Amino acid sequence: MNISTNQHFMKLNTIGTHFSIIEDKKSTITIMYTYMEFVMYAQIIWLSFLYVKSSVIAKFTEVKVEQAVEVINLSKSYILDKKELKVLENINLKVTAGNFISIIGPSGCGKSTLFRVIAGLEKDYTGSVYVNGSDIANTKPYIAYMLQKDLLLPWRNVWKNVVLPLELAGTLKDTDNTFLEKMLEEFGLKEFKNAYPDELSGGMRQRVALLRTWLMKGSVMLLDEPFGALDALTRNHMQDWLTKVWEKHQKTVLFITHDIEEAIYLSDEIVVMSQRPGKFIESLNIDLERPRKRDMVYTQQFVEYKKRIMSKVQE
Ligand SMILES: Nc1ncnc2c1ncn2[C@@H]1O[C@H](COP(=O)(O)OP(=O)(O)OP(=O)(O)O)[C@@H](O)[C@H]1O
Ligand SMILES: [Mg+2]
Repeated sequence: MNISTNQHFMKLNTIGTHFSIIEDKKSTITIMYTYMEFVMYAQIIWLSFLYVKSSVIAKFTEVKVEQAVEVINLSKSYILDKKELKVLENINLKVTAGNFISIIGPSGCGKSTLFRVIAGLEKDYTGSVYVNGSDIANTKPYIAYMLQKDLLLPWRNVWKNVVLPLELAGTLKDTDNTFLEKMLEEFGLKEFKNAYPDELSGGMRQRVALLRTWLMKGSVMLLDEPFGALDALTRNHMQDWLTKVWEKHQKTVLFITHDIEEAIYLSDEIVVMSQRPGKFIESLNIDLERPRKRDMVYTQQFVEYKKRIMSKVQE
Protein backbone atom coordinates (compact mmCIF):
# COMPACT_ATOMS: atom_id res chain seq x y z
CA MET A 1 0.00 0.00 0.00
CA ASN A 2 1.51 3.29 -1.04
CA ILE A 3 1.18 6.45 0.99
CA SER A 4 -1.67 7.85 -1.02
CA THR A 5 -3.56 4.55 -0.75
CA ASN A 6 -2.80 4.51 2.93
CA GLN A 7 -4.03 8.11 3.26
CA HIS A 8 -7.09 7.17 1.25
CA PHE A 9 -7.71 4.18 3.47
CA MET A 10 -7.28 6.33 6.58
CA LYS A 11 -9.68 8.87 5.08
CA LEU A 12 -12.19 6.08 4.39
CA ASN A 13 -11.60 4.79 7.86
CA THR A 14 -12.25 8.26 9.29
CA ILE A 15 -15.42 8.48 7.22
CA GLY A 16 -16.32 5.01 8.51
CA THR A 17 -15.72 6.11 12.08
CA HIS A 18 -17.73 9.21 11.31
CA PHE A 19 -20.55 7.05 10.02
CA SER A 20 -20.37 4.80 13.00
CA ILE A 21 -20.45 7.90 15.22
CA ILE A 22 -23.47 9.06 13.26
CA GLU A 23 -24.93 5.57 13.64
CA ASP A 24 -24.14 5.74 17.38
CA LYS A 25 -25.74 9.19 17.64
CA LYS A 26 -28.73 7.91 15.71
CA SER A 27 -29.21 5.03 18.06
CA THR A 28 -28.67 7.36 21.05
CA ILE A 29 -31.30 9.69 19.60
CA THR A 30 -33.60 6.72 18.95
CA ILE A 31 -33.09 5.55 22.53
CA MET A 32 -33.73 9.09 23.74
CA TYR A 33 -36.89 9.35 21.67
CA THR A 34 -38.06 5.96 22.86
CA TYR A 35 -37.32 7.00 26.44
CA MET A 36 -39.14 10.33 26.02
CA GLU A 37 -42.07 8.55 24.42
CA PHE A 38 -42.10 6.12 27.33
CA VAL A 39 -42.01 9.00 29.85
CA MET A 40 -44.77 10.78 27.96
CA TYR A 41 -47.01 7.71 27.86
CA ALA A 42 -46.22 6.98 31.49
CA GLN A 43 -47.23 10.56 32.35
CA ILE A 44 -50.45 10.27 30.37
CA ILE A 45 -51.27 6.99 32.08
CA TRP A 46 -50.39 8.48 35.50
CA LEU A 47 -52.48 11.61 34.91
CA SER A 48 -55.43 9.53 33.71
CA PHE A 49 -55.06 7.38 36.80
CA LEU A 50 -54.99 10.48 39.03
CA TYR A 51 -58.05 11.89 37.26
CA VAL A 52 -60.00 8.67 37.65
CA LYS A 53 -58.80 8.34 41.25
CA SER A 54 -59.85 11.92 42.16
CA SER A 55 -63.24 11.53 40.53
CA VAL A 56 -63.76 8.24 42.34
CA ILE A 57 -62.69 9.86 45.63
CA ALA A 58 -64.95 12.85 44.92
CA LYS A 59 -67.81 10.46 44.25
CA PHE A 60 -67.26 8.57 47.47
CA THR A 61 -66.61 11.63 49.66
CA GLU A 62 -69.54 13.57 48.18
CA VAL A 63 -71.90 12.02 50.69
CA LYS A 64 -69.65 12.74 53.64
CA VAL A 65 -68.82 16.34 52.70
CA GLU A 66 -72.56 17.06 52.46
CA GLN A 67 -72.38 17.08 56.29
CA ALA A 68 -70.63 20.35 57.06
CA VAL A 69 -70.33 19.38 60.72
CA GLU A 70 -70.74 16.00 62.34
CA VAL A 71 -70.33 15.45 66.06
CA ILE A 72 -70.34 11.86 67.30
CA ASN A 73 -70.65 10.88 70.98
CA LEU A 74 -68.82 13.99 72.17
CA SER A 75 -68.13 14.32 75.89
CA LYS A 76 -65.96 16.93 77.56
CA SER A 77 -64.92 17.61 81.15
CA TYR A 78 -62.85 20.31 82.81
CA ILE A 79 -60.90 20.05 86.03
CA LEU A 80 -62.11 22.67 88.47
CA ASP A 81 -60.72 22.80 92.04
CA LYS A 82 -59.08 19.42 91.38
CA LYS A 83 -62.50 17.89 90.67
CA GLU A 84 -63.90 16.75 87.38
CA LEU A 85 -66.58 19.06 85.99
CA LYS A 86 -68.58 17.22 83.35
CA VAL A 87 -69.65 19.83 80.80
CA LEU A 88 -70.80 17.94 77.68
CA GLU A 89 -72.21 14.43 77.63
CA ASN A 90 -72.70 12.27 74.60
CA ILE A 91 -73.48 15.03 72.10
CA ASN A 92 -74.48 13.91 68.59
CA LEU A 93 -75.11 16.44 65.84
CA LYS A 94 -75.28 16.46 62.05
CA VAL A 95 -75.36 19.76 60.22
CA THR A 96 -76.07 19.67 56.49
CA ALA A 97 -74.02 22.14 54.43
CA GLY A 98 -75.83 25.45 53.97
CA ASN A 99 -78.20 24.97 56.94
CA PHE A 100 -78.83 27.37 59.81
CA ILE A 101 -78.92 25.56 63.18
CA SER A 102 -79.59 27.23 66.52
CA ILE A 103 -78.56 25.86 69.90
CA ILE A 104 -80.57 26.83 72.95
CA GLY A 105 -79.84 25.84 76.52
CA PRO A 106 -79.48 27.14 80.08
CA SER A 107 -76.50 29.26 81.09
CA GLY A 108 -73.45 27.13 81.85
CA CYS A 109 -74.71 24.00 80.04
CA GLY A 110 -71.70 23.94 77.71
CA LYS A 111 -72.82 25.73 74.52
CA SER A 112 -69.67 27.83 74.15
CA THR A 113 -67.59 24.80 75.11
CA LEU A 114 -69.20 22.87 72.25
CA PHE A 115 -68.22 25.67 69.84
CA ARG A 116 -64.66 25.72 71.15
CA VAL A 117 -64.38 21.96 70.53
CA ILE A 118 -65.80 22.25 66.98
CA ALA A 119 -63.42 25.15 66.27
CA GLY A 120 -60.48 22.92 67.27
CA LEU A 121 -59.60 25.01 70.34
CA GLU A 122 -60.12 22.19 72.84
CA LYS A 123 -58.01 19.07 72.51
CA ASP A 124 -59.10 17.12 75.52
CA TYR A 125 -62.43 15.48 74.67
CA THR A 126 -63.84 12.07 73.85
CA GLY A 127 -65.80 11.27 70.70
CA SER A 128 -65.26 12.62 67.21
CA VAL A 129 -65.87 15.87 65.38
CA TYR A 130 -65.79 16.13 61.59
CA VAL A 131 -65.80 19.43 59.74
CA ASN A 132 -66.42 19.13 55.99
CA GLY A 133 -65.61 15.44 56.22
CA SER A 134 -62.25 15.79 58.05
CA ASP A 135 -61.65 14.68 61.61
CA ILE A 136 -60.58 17.81 63.52
CA ALA A 137 -58.29 15.65 65.66
CA ASN A 138 -56.03 15.30 62.59
CA THR A 139 -56.82 18.34 60.46
CA LYS A 140 -57.16 21.96 61.53
CA PRO A 141 -60.77 22.89 60.76
CA TYR A 142 -61.45 26.00 58.67
CA ILE A 143 -64.12 27.62 60.78
CA ALA A 144 -65.25 31.21 61.08
CA TYR A 145 -65.88 31.73 64.78
CA MET A 146 -67.49 34.75 66.39
CA LEU A 147 -66.91 34.66 70.13
CA GLN A 148 -69.52 35.55 72.72
CA LYS A 149 -67.86 38.99 73.04
CA ASP A 150 -67.35 40.99 69.84
CA LEU A 151 -63.65 41.64 70.63
CA LEU A 152 -63.14 44.46 68.15
CA LEU A 153 -59.72 46.04 68.38
CA PRO A 154 -60.32 49.60 69.67
CA TRP A 155 -57.22 51.04 67.97
CA ARG A 156 -58.31 49.87 64.52
CA ASN A 157 -61.06 51.50 62.48
CA VAL A 158 -63.96 49.51 60.96
CA TRP A 159 -62.09 48.73 57.74
CA LYS A 160 -58.97 47.55 59.59
CA ASN A 161 -61.01 45.42 62.01
CA VAL A 162 -62.91 43.81 59.15
CA VAL A 163 -59.84 42.92 57.08
CA LEU A 164 -57.96 41.47 60.07
CA PRO A 165 -58.60 37.78 59.17
CA LEU A 166 -57.40 38.41 55.61
CA GLU A 167 -54.32 40.17 56.96
CA LEU A 168 -53.56 37.25 59.28
CA ALA A 169 -54.06 34.73 56.48
CA GLY A 170 -51.73 36.79 54.23
CA THR A 171 -54.44 37.14 51.56
CA LEU A 172 -55.28 40.83 51.98
CA LYS A 173 -53.07 42.04 49.12
CA ASP A 174 -54.77 39.58 46.72
CA THR A 175 -58.28 40.52 47.83
CA ASP A 176 -60.31 42.71 45.52
CA ASN A 177 -61.08 46.02 47.26
CA THR A 178 -64.35 46.41 45.36
CA PHE A 179 -65.49 43.08 46.87
CA LEU A 180 -64.68 44.36 50.37
CA GLU A 181 -66.48 47.67 49.67
CA LYS A 182 -69.52 45.68 48.46
CA MET A 183 -69.53 43.54 51.61
CA LEU A 184 -69.24 46.66 53.80
CA GLU A 185 -72.27 48.08 51.99
CA GLU A 186 -74.20 44.82 52.42
CA PHE A 187 -73.44 44.85 56.14
CA GLY A 188 -74.58 48.51 56.38
CA LEU A 189 -71.14 49.80 57.27
CA LYS A 190 -70.06 51.63 54.13
CA GLU A 191 -70.22 55.15 55.58
CA PHE A 192 -68.50 54.06 58.77
CA LYS A 193 -65.44 52.37 57.40
CA ASN A 194 -63.13 54.96 58.96
CA ALA A 195 -64.94 55.03 62.32
CA TYR A 196 -63.43 53.44 65.44
CA PRO A 197 -65.36 50.87 67.55
CA ASP A 198 -66.17 53.39 70.31
CA GLU A 199 -67.81 55.64 67.69
CA LEU A 200 -70.31 52.89 66.72
CA SER A 201 -73.66 51.77 68.12
CA GLY A 202 -74.01 48.28 69.63
CA GLY A 203 -75.72 46.94 66.48
CA MET A 204 -72.99 48.33 64.26
CA ARG A 205 -70.26 46.80 66.39
CA GLN A 206 -71.97 43.43 66.04
CA ARG A 207 -72.17 43.88 62.27
CA VAL A 208 -68.44 44.69 62.14
CA ALA A 209 -67.72 41.55 64.16
CA LEU A 210 -70.06 39.52 61.94
CA LEU A 211 -68.49 40.78 58.74
CA ARG A 212 -65.04 40.03 60.14
CA THR A 213 -66.24 36.48 60.89
CA TRP A 214 -67.86 36.27 57.42
CA LEU A 215 -64.49 36.99 55.80
CA MET A 216 -62.65 34.26 57.70
CA LYS A 217 -61.60 31.25 55.71
CA GLY A 218 -64.18 28.50 56.05
CA SER A 219 -67.71 27.75 54.95
CA VAL A 220 -68.89 26.97 58.49
CA MET A 221 -69.69 29.84 60.85
CA LEU A 222 -70.05 29.55 64.61
CA LEU A 223 -71.91 32.54 66.06
CA ASP A 224 -72.01 32.61 69.85
CA GLU A 225 -74.88 34.87 70.99
CA PRO A 226 -74.06 37.57 68.43
CA PHE A 227 -77.08 39.69 69.39
CA GLY A 228 -77.07 38.94 73.11
CA ALA A 229 -76.17 42.46 74.22
CA LEU A 230 -78.60 44.36 71.98
CA ASP A 231 -81.89 46.00 72.88
CA ALA A 232 -85.07 44.33 71.56
CA LEU A 233 -85.61 46.70 68.60
CA THR A 234 -82.03 46.62 67.34
CA ARG A 235 -82.06 42.89 67.83
CA ASN A 236 -85.14 42.47 65.60
CA HIS A 237 -83.56 44.68 63.00
CA MET A 238 -80.35 42.62 63.11
CA GLN A 239 -82.29 39.34 62.81
CA ASP A 240 -84.13 40.63 59.70
CA TRP A 241 -80.85 41.73 58.25
CA LEU A 242 -79.07 38.44 59.09
CA THR A 243 -81.79 36.28 57.48
CA LYS A 244 -81.48 38.35 54.30
CA VAL A 245 -77.68 38.09 54.17
CA TRP A 246 -77.77 34.38 55.05
CA GLU A 247 -80.52 33.55 52.53
CA LYS A 248 -78.36 35.21 49.88
CA HIS A 249 -75.03 33.52 50.77
CA GLN A 250 -76.28 30.27 52.41
CA LYS A 251 -73.26 29.56 54.58
CA THR A 252 -73.53 26.83 57.19
CA VAL A 253 -74.30 28.58 60.47
CA LEU A 254 -74.34 27.26 64.03
CA PHE A 255 -75.91 29.91 66.21
CA ILE A 256 -76.13 30.07 70.01
CA THR A 257 -78.95 32.08 71.53
CA HIS A 258 -81.08 32.32 74.66
CA ASP A 259 -83.92 33.86 72.67
CA ILE A 260 -86.43 31.24 71.50
CA GLU A 261 -88.20 33.56 69.05
CA GLU A 262 -84.89 34.55 67.51
CA ALA A 263 -83.96 30.88 67.09
CA ILE A 264 -87.27 30.01 65.37
CA TYR A 265 -87.17 33.07 63.15
CA LEU A 266 -83.63 32.39 61.89
CA SER A 267 -83.21 28.63 61.81
CA ASP A 268 -83.82 25.51 59.75
CA GLU A 269 -83.35 23.42 62.90
CA ILE A 270 -83.15 24.05 66.63
CA VAL A 271 -81.48 21.83 69.20
CA VAL A 272 -82.20 22.21 72.89
CA MET A 273 -79.61 21.36 75.53
CA SER A 274 -80.17 20.19 79.09
CA GLN A 275 -78.58 21.62 82.23
CA ARG A 276 -74.89 20.81 82.67
CA PRO A 277 -73.60 18.29 81.78
CA GLY A 278 -75.13 19.47 78.51
CA LYS A 279 -76.97 16.85 76.47
CA PHE A 280 -79.17 17.35 73.44
CA ILE A 281 -82.72 16.78 74.64
CA GLU A 282 -84.71 17.97 71.65
CA SER A 283 -84.23 18.63 67.97
CA LEU A 284 -86.86 20.47 65.97
CA ASN A 285 -87.03 21.21 62.25
CA ILE A 286 -88.45 24.63 61.49
CA ASP A 287 -90.56 24.41 58.35
CA LEU A 288 -91.40 28.10 57.95
CA GLU A 289 -90.97 29.20 54.37
CA ARG A 290 -88.11 31.42 53.26
CA PRO A 291 -87.56 34.29 52.92
CA ARG A 292 -88.70 34.72 56.50
CA LYS A 293 -90.99 37.63 57.27
CA ARG A 294 -91.46 39.40 60.56
CA ASP A 295 -95.22 38.76 60.76
CA MET A 296 -94.57 35.00 60.76
CA VAL A 297 -94.04 35.31 64.51
CA TYR A 298 -97.84 35.68 64.91
CA THR A 299 -98.72 32.52 63.01
CA GLN A 300 -100.09 29.41 64.71
CA GLN A 301 -97.13 27.36 63.46
CA PHE A 302 -94.62 29.79 65.00
CA VAL A 303 -96.48 29.81 68.33
CA GLU A 304 -96.57 25.98 68.34
CA TYR A 305 -92.79 25.84 67.84
CA LYS A 306 -92.36 28.35 70.65
CA LYS A 307 -94.52 26.32 73.08
CA ARG A 308 -92.67 23.12 72.25
CA ILE A 309 -89.23 24.65 72.81
CA MET A 310 -90.32 26.49 75.99
CA SER A 311 -91.55 23.22 77.47
CA LYS A 312 -88.17 21.59 76.76
CA VAL A 313 -86.08 24.51 78.03
CA GLN A 314 -88.01 24.48 81.33
CA GLU A 315 -87.51 20.75 81.89
N1 LIG B 1 -61.51 26.68 80.76
C1 LIG B 1 -62.38 26.23 81.65
N2 LIG B 1 -61.96 25.61 82.79
C2 LIG B 1 -62.85 25.13 83.66
N3 LIG B 1 -64.18 25.21 83.53
C3 LIG B 1 -64.64 25.82 82.43
C4 LIG B 1 -63.79 26.37 81.44
N4 LIG B 1 -64.54 26.90 80.45
C5 LIG B 1 -65.81 26.69 80.83
N5 LIG B 1 -65.88 26.06 82.00
C6 LIG B 1 -67.10 25.65 82.70
O1 LIG B 1 -67.86 24.87 81.78
C7 LIG B 1 -69.24 25.13 81.97
C8 LIG B 1 -69.84 25.47 80.62
O2 LIG B 1 -69.35 26.73 80.18
P1 LIG B 1 -69.81 27.36 78.82
O3 LIG B 1 -69.12 28.66 78.69
O4 LIG B 1 -69.62 26.37 77.76
O5 LIG B 1 -71.37 27.57 79.08
P2 LIG B 1 -72.49 28.23 78.17
O6 LIG B 1 -73.54 27.23 77.94
O7 LIG B 1 -71.87 28.84 76.98
O8 LIG B 1 -73.04 29.36 79.14
P3 LIG B 1 -73.61 30.83 78.77
O9 LIG B 1 -74.97 30.63 78.20
O10 LIG B 1 -73.67 31.50 80.12
O11 LIG B 1 -72.66 31.48 77.85
C9 LIG B 1 -69.34 26.24 83.01
O12 LIG B 1 -69.70 25.65 84.22
C10 LIG B 1 -67.96 26.81 83.09
O13 LIG B 1 -67.67 27.24 84.39
MG1 LIG C 1 -71.56 30.79 76.32
